[in-house]
Amino acid sequence: MENLISLVNKIQRACTALGDHGDTSALPTLWDSLPTIAVVGGQSSGKSSVLESVVGKDFLPRGSGIVTRRPLVLQLHKIEEGSREYAEFLHLPRKRFTDFSAVRKEIADETDRETGRSKQISSVPIHLSIYSPNVVNLTLIDLPGLTKVAVEGQPDSIVQEIENMVRSYIEKPNCIILAISPANQDLATSDAIKISREVDPTGERTFGVLTKIDLMDKGTDAVDILEGKAFRLKFPWIGVVNRSQADINKNIDMMAARRREREYFSGTPEYKHLAHRMGSEHLAKMLSKQLENVIKTKIPGIQSLINKTILELETELNRLGKPIASDAGGKLYSIMEICRLFDQIYKEHLDGVRSGGDKI
Ligand code: GDP
Ligand code: NA
Ligand code: MG
Repeated sequence: MENLISLVNKIQRACTALGDHGDTSALPTLWDSLPTIAVVGGQSSGKSSVLESVVGKDFLPRGSGIVTRRPLVLQLHKIEEGSREYAEFLHLPRKRFTDFSAVRKEIADETDRETGRSKQISSVPIHLSIYSPNVVNLTLIDLPGLTKVAVEGQPDSIVQEIENMVRSYIEKPNCIILAISPANQDLATSDAIKISREVDPTGERTFGVLTKIDLMDKGTDAVDILEGKAFRLKFPWIGVVNRSQADINKNIDMMAARRREREYFSGTPEYKHLAHRMGSEHLAKMLSKQLENVIKTKIPGIQSLINKTILELETELNRLGKPIASDAGGKLYSIMEICRLFDQIYKEHLDGVRSGGDKI
């Protein structure tokens, strides 16, 4: 199955790389058919913190105001234990980042390049891949935070634009929604719950994540929510404890933060019985499993689209003429290769199923 997740990742990257080329009409449809996980929530609900703890690395720009102004498509690739972790951007091929503060700076710079420093938003995604022994294979999309008021320098229309952009991602039936709500605010007012209920009323593709459990008022706890007695979703709620602003300022590292989070749940009498299904590591495992499940059920659909894409690409390549010298030709050629590989692995999977084994 890891094979299929990483192939889906490759197709996603290829679709974006071909975005500038754009005259192959099957590609947007192909992109839409690929299962993804999108992170939604109000500003400062803890979205970036959750993403960073799932990855186990500090790499996202932060600050007050609308920091995330373009979708960030984050692909996690698990590599061999003991290997050095690194990151790569699709727009900077062959440049390996081992310094994650440089990753943070590049995300901010690349955001400004597209939006022209005007603090506008753009729906053109930034693609970042992280290769690390400490991750599970997963693709996550970080979206701008939902907000009720524009800040200085941003037009009032930005509030609605953000909501529309978020909705355009999470309304796709193949999108798994990671709905982030802070535990120190009334869940009834949660932006994440509000918008995810709208697009997924039965909650069958929504994962509820409760952040800031450590910041709840003394004498209150989140047990009713975490046990599924209040605000029931199809999947059990997952509680997390991210680093506080003070922790970030003190440079508490992510691995220490994960350890402390584990200790928090197993050491708090109210949560002890839930500890095995709380925390960012558990969240990462659940998401990877769910992504696999969704890919499995969607394979036949993806498969037929891929066949259609291969056909279109062949036509396109013929039109460009051979030998393929142009950059566009090269890109088309590589997505065709990926599609063929997907096709081949899928067929092997079917053979495996027919002969009684389950290869995937
Ligand atoms: P975003 O705007 O949704 O991306 O939110 P951030 O991840 O940037 O978090 C906003 C602020 O809340 C930061 O100062 C975080 O340190 C803090 N924060 C996030 N999650 C938690 C948590 O679980 N506990 C505590 N104490 N602080 C948190
Ligand atoms: Na923020
Ligand atoms: Mg953020």
